[in-house]
Amino acid sequence: MKKIGVLTSGGDAPGMNPAIRAVVRKAIFHNVDVYGIYGGYSGLISGNIKKLELGSVGDIIHRGGTMLHSARCIEFKNKEGQQKGIEQLRAHGIEGLVVIGGDGSYRGAMALSEQGFPCVGVPGTIDNDIPGTEQTIGFDTALNTVIDAIDKIRDTATSHERTFVIEVMGRNAGDIALWAGLAGGAETILIPEENYDMNEIAERLRSGQERGKKHSIIIVAEGVCSGYEFARQLEEATNFDTRVSVLGHIQRGGSPTAADRVLASRLGARAVELLIEGKGGRAVGIEKNKLVDYDIIDALNQKHTLDLDLFNLSKELSI
Ligand code: F6P
Repeated sequence: MKKIGVLTSGGDAPGMNPAIRAVVRKAIFHNVDVYGIYGGYSGLISGNIKKLELGSVGDIIHRGGTMLHSARCIEFKNKEGQQKGIEQLRAHGIEGLVVIGGDGSYRGAMALSEQGFPCVGVPGTIDNDIPGTEQTIGFDTALNTVIDAIDKIRDTATSHERTFVIEVMGRNAGDIALWAGLAGGAETILIPEENYDMNEIAERLRSGQERGKKHSIIIVAEGVCSGYEFARQLEEATNFDTRVSVLGHIQRGGSPTAADRVLASRLGARAVELLIEGKGGRAVGIEKNKLVDYDIIDALNQKHTLDLDLFNLSKELSI
């Protein structure tokens, strides 16, 4: 393989830039040319493709977002769009593609691989919801952003003796809510993987107040319901003075943490190795701190599982 391409797709995640850097540098190290596809699969269809040099990825390791930009592309969901993409890749002499993104991006990579164009998926999403890897690129940075917000909200919550509902991202997964809630000392964490009992929550908050707690922090994963909806239910059940914070897209930005930079560097470089070894239709991941790769179909067919032990621990520690 002498020419490969790299693109980022779907919701951006801090750490995508270090992953791109790793792909480019690792490929050039092995005398393979690299082409950047700008704007995800939309850019692939329209041929927004440029050669990347060593210097093209200089000074990006610490930057959030993605220098290749990203998009959610409806057209690429059908075979016609995918064929247009393959034509563009072949017209540039590109023989393999690294796709950095979440499950939607993996679906595109799998379709290309099935049509004979080798692709390797690199898990880049703040949601941490890709099966086959214990951690996705961007998750750690997003967690730290959320924890920073929780700490700040805690200050004002204590001053005013208020209950705060903080809505976090994660699409259908509760990982951000769970990890950030545990690390931020939240009283209650609501995740889509587990049902909640409003009477039990109300009772816990009341008994906390009776013991002299000055505030309550409740983390709601967006996959459960909106923070405003939960606050409405809570006020109905308790008449506590409640405020809501929806953290939104700040969770997707910011300089990647050291952990994300290292993870992105390792996964990006491994993806290039696989293409050089002639292995397409794969996804890379990390398990017990070791790099792994597996059939990309597994990443899409298997169900992401959240660490329920961590959920139970958070309940025990927030009594
Ligand atoms: O997948 C990442 C994510 O940030 C989810 O947590 C969230 O539900 C979604 O993307 C938001 O998507 P958009 O970029 O379209 O607002």
